Amino acid sequence: MKFYIKTFGCQMNEHDSEIIAGVLQQAGYQPCGELDAADIIVVNTCCIRESAENKIWGYIGNLKNAKYKKPGVIIAVLGCMTQQTTIGDALKRYGSHIDIVLGTYQQHRLPEYITRALAGSGQIVDISEDNRDFPDELPAVRVGGVTAQVNISYGCNNFCSYCIVPYVRGRERSRSLNAILAEIREAAAAGCKEIMLLGQNVNSYGKDLRKAGQTDAPDFAAVLKAACAVPGIERVRYMSSHPRDFSPELVDEISLLPQVRAYYHLPLQSGCNKTLRAMNRGYDTARYAEIIDRIRAKTPAAAVTTDIIVGFPGETEEDFRASLDFIARCRFDAAYTFIYSPRSGTPAAKMAEQVPLAVKKARLQRLTTLQNQISLAKNQAYIGQTVRVLVEGPSKNNPELLTGRTESNKIVILRGGAELINQITAVEITGAKTWHLEAL
Ligand code: 5AD
Ligand code: SF4
Repeated sequence: MKFYIKTFGCQMNEHDSEIIAGVLQQAGYQPCGELDAADIIVVNTCCIRESAENKIWGYIGNLKNAKYKKPGVIIAVLGCMTQQTTIGDALKRYGSHIDIVLGTYQQHRLPEYITRALAGSGQIVDISEDNRDFPDELPAVRVGGVTAQVNISYGCNNFCSYCIVPYVRGRERSRSLNAILAEIREAAAAGCKEIMLLGQNVNSYGKDLRKAGQTDAPDFAAVLKAACAVPGIERVRYMSSHPRDFSPELVDEISLLPQVRAYYHLPLQSGCNKTLRAMNRGYDTARYAEIIDRIRAKTPAAAVTTDIIVGFPGETEEDFRASLDFIARCRFDAAYTFIYSPRSGTPAAKMAEQVPLAVKKARLQRLTTLQNQISLAKNQAYIGQTVRVLVEGPSKNNPELLTGRTESNKIVILRGGAELINQITAVEITGAKTWHLEAL
């Protein structure tokens, strides 16, 4: 029997889909690239913003056709969205064409539930954000090519006031360093040159282990060092970090790791202290600036990117301007920008002074205009430089060209043959756009 997986959401979800593919293949199912050819359809969902949810509801609704055409097909909905009880109930109530509804930490049980569904069990719902029983080691079928994604922790303890993640992914749980390293070694042996360490807040890795009595449990710096020491691993990235837990000492340690130091992603969320407090972020702009300054002092060529939310409840025009000023001061290489989306069950959704959508949209536009200028200027500074590019594959827009990334994680469009894929090659940058460099 064949399965097809449709993934929505972040890298964490993409990697969860690799694990889902792994457990299904281990159980004897085969992957297929077309929904119509599948006997099992898996939808891996996201609920970080309303826009994601709306898209997914549309997709799930359309699957009625798949069931109509092939009544025996098994449809399973997994992932973050199902963890919101209200939506879990809704799926139960409205999605009679959905056979299986599982939470993020039940995904390894999918084969068992498919067997039950095939035997005519009726709709199965198993959702819980409790990750204590989630196995530390699971198979994964990597689709990332040159990059292997490796979980270092699950869940989040931060409760930023806008964020649904701690409610759907549960408390923070670190994987053992042995399990992490075994996966990295396996990926390196399979030819992966880049590792992406995944966790909602990678900086607090190991805290839970130490609390549980494992006093010598490694910290995040130790994970980075161990990953860098695996032969064949040329680059180590991580996602996501938290400025509150990003100590200046960690910057110093990273500055000694050539595979890591050229790229930092440090979500700021807002450049206004009042908003940061209301977001429950646990740092202010002075502390954030201290980290940025340390990074630039230690590794001047490092690129720094960030996440920004506009239109958080209570954000006034003055607050937004303060945020813009701070963003201009930080001179990020790029920013992933979001319009605040109220998530039911989070404290921010209940706050008074919600910002009207039109104001949010206008602010996003102003932020994008500012950041695009900075991104372009930063990228233009690369023109004439020779950079080491890890080639990922053919360019999406022009399959005759290749796409890859610099050590600082900038996308480069370059010329070259397929033999360069998964190799590091030195090229001279000839052009720069807002979101990528060119070596043509
Ligand atoms: N609305 C808008 N953006 C959000 N993010 C998280 N929750 C929300 C929300 N409710 C953004 C944050 C985070 C990124 C992954 O998504 O910027 O860093
Ligand atoms: Fe959400 Fe904050 Fe946790 Fe990130 S650190 S997952 S934004 S609660």
